[in-house]
Amino acid sequence: MGDARLLRVAEPVPEALFGSAELQALITDMQDTMAALDGAGLAAPQIGVNLRLVIFGVGANPRYPDAETVPFTMLCNPVLTPLAPDLEDGWEGCLSVPGMRGLVPRFARLRYSGVDQRGQPIAREVSGFHARVVQHECDHLDGILYPRRIRDLSQFGFTRELFGEDLADD
Ligand code: NI
Repeated sequence: MGDARLLRVAEPVPEALFGSAELQALITDMQDTMAALDGAGLAAPQIGVNLRLVIFGVGANPRYPDAETVPFTMLCNPVLTPLAPDLEDGWEGCLSVPGMRGLVPRFARLRYSGVDQRGQPIAREVSGFHARVVQHECDHLDGILYPRRIRDLSQFGFTRELFGEDLADD
């Protein structure tokens, strides 16, 4: 947070990149970064690449058996459509805002669409944590970090103080 590259509106992934080794190398780099930092998702602008590309996914975690899982997905040129006006508050963190969490309102249900690294279409209707992760990552493509979405800044702080432990940054 504070790096001007995180405030840009990212460019669409050009069709010429679909199926290319260059795009696959970028995705591999993003997957490695996300795994190394134990994140739930990552957007290309977070590693300095100004393209509309996000990856996300949460596997089963024995420490949090009741936590929702999200299928590992890579999505280029996403389009998000809320399915209802309802907003839900939930805690978020971000690899670009390390060590902090904030309570952020997000649409509870939405449809997202886009294409994968080969240009094949992806479309899903999701809710809850899955919908939250997608909205957080796609915000990065429009230069928006989650602190700008927080309505009550008393609900923003250091993870250690809020939750009494050092949770991973999402
Ligand atoms: Ni983030």
